[in-house]
Amino acid sequence: MEIRKALVVGAGQMGSGIAQVLAQAGVQVVLNDIKPEFLERGIGVITKNLSRDVEKGRKTEEEKAAVLARILPTTNMGEAHDAQLAIEAATENMEIKKNIFRQMDEVLPAGAILATNTSSLPITEIAAVTSRPELVIGMHFMNPVPVMKLVEIIRGLATTQEVYQSIEDLTKKMEKVPVEVQDFPGFVANRILMPMINEAIYCVYEGVSSVEDVDQVMKLGMNHPMGPLTLADFIGLDTCLAIMEVLHEGFGDSKYRPCPLLRKYVKAGWLGKKTGRGFYQY
Ligand code: CAA
Repeated sequence: MEIRKALVVGAGQMGSGIAQVLAQAGVQVVLNDIKPEFLERGIGVITKNLSRDVEKGRKTEEEKAAVLARILPTTNMGEAHDAQLAIEAATENMEIKKNIFRQMDEVLPAGAILATNTSSLPITEIAAVTSRPELVIGMHFMNPVPVMKLVEIIRGLATTQEVYQSIEDLTKKMEKVPVEVQDFPGFVANRILMPMINEAIYCVYEGVSSVEDVDQVMKLGMNHPMGPLTLADFIGLDTCLAIMEVLHEGFGDSKYRPCPLLRKYVKAGWLGKKTGRGFYQY
């Protein structure tokens, strides 16, 4: 199925990035959120990214204008009644996601694909609240979406091969690289990344080393572009904790227990870059 029009639910960090790369691939995008100010912020981020592309000579002013013209910001999900695809990019909370999937199932026409950008929640469980579990799939983008090449495509238990193929084709059209993953806790990216971040937090918690030095070890010793604690602040410590909880509960293995220091920071509201304080101050 060719995707010509898509709904993106959530205009935050991930949703705005997804809307941008879809529009760059020539897809008409309905960008939906609950408050106009969330939409304004999302469009602001997209505009800034596109302006940078123009400055760097990667796009012309006309191309920038054409990408922006393909994105319709709206609080009315009904605008997507004739879309072929919906991608949910809301908070990592199962009840919120289930509610959005119920709404998308009502709004989108029969045969449309419903995707989630969840970083670790089970696709199969989300699919079960819809009338079309065979058309539900995971599309896990990495942050920052316009820069990072990977998309994990996650098959739910009922996802058909046709749906998988349509999403793989779209991913390539967005100039991203698809990787096929089965529906198990944390998929692949976060099953490997989050225990590393959690272990870095344990190193600080146990006094093995300082925040700065733990980051230096991984940056200079392993050539990671960001140290794990900088990356945790960038992702959001609440998201990191939520993913560790999914791994811990999903596998029932103590090796995934979230570090008490991570819990403490989240309880304090120190969620990283977005709140101005995490392992670092911003
Ligand atoms: N949005 C758009 N573009 C961005 C951006 C953003 N938020 N942040 C950086 N960029 C662009 C910059 O504009 C710059 O582009 P130019 O070619 O025009 O210079 C380019 O990326 C490089 O940026 P910088 O020079 O400022 O800095 P950098 O070289 O350190 O790169 C980075 C920044 C790409 C973010 C890099 O530090 C990096 O790769 N970090 C690791 C990111 C990562 O691991 N992401 C995955 C997180 S996990 C996840 O997303 C999954 C999950 O479920 C939790």
